[in-house]
Amino acid sequence: MIHELTRLGFLVSGRGSNLQAIIQACKDKKLYAEPAVVISNNASAGALDIARSESIPAIHISRNTHPDIDQLDRAITETLQQHQADLVILAGYMKKIGPVLLKAYRNRIINIHPSLLPKFGGQGMYGMRVHAAVLAAGERVTGATVHLVDYDYDSGPILGQRQVEVLAGDNPESLAIRVLAAEHALLVEVLQDIIKGKIILPDH
Ligand code: GAR
Repeated sequence: MIHELTRLGFLVSGRGSNLQAIIQACKDKKLYAEPAVVISNNASAGALDIARSESIPAIHISRNTHPDIDQLDRAITETLQQHQADLVILAGYMKKIGPVLLKAYRNRIINIHPSLLPKFGGQGMYGMRVHAAVLAAGERVTGATVHLVDYDYDSGPILGQRQVEVLAGDNPESLAIRVLAAEHALLVEVLQDIIKGKIILPDH
């Protein structure tokens, strides 16, 4: 890594609890990293408020600010580069990543997903829908996955997984609470392993 502390760029769409978990781990010095910028497609995302309250640059970039999809892709990439992000974390980001960003940050974009991929991933599988599908399928075990991002939704090499037991009487909300706790721990753990060199990312 070029910087003494690995600089993290975030793409977020909603609440921002994964973002919060990483910020806290940085503050606690569990993670040798610093949040560099938070970008959201949703101007009213809670994650932007979290970033602002931590004095982290918080920027809304979406089809509203950039109606042209190629310009949008470039704007997100340039913003990450301007803030010198080394790694990009999709922390609850519900939009597809454009080709410009994928090329600029090849093998440096990390996603957290609330299931044991490849199960319950792909387009339309996000948030509570994932947990509802897990329950409908009668799964006994679910969990969280952190993976490198490639051209498709929820695909790309898996970097880490954590299992969560499905309990009798679970509903999507109760399951989501336990999976979310696993997500927070897993994301910090995988980032730690990347920063310490225990997980070696493929070449840029
Ligand atoms: C998390 O559960 C994350 O795994 C999920 O969105 C939630 C965001 O929560 N991401 C996906 O479903 C991506 N396919 P947060 O805003 O509180 O971190």
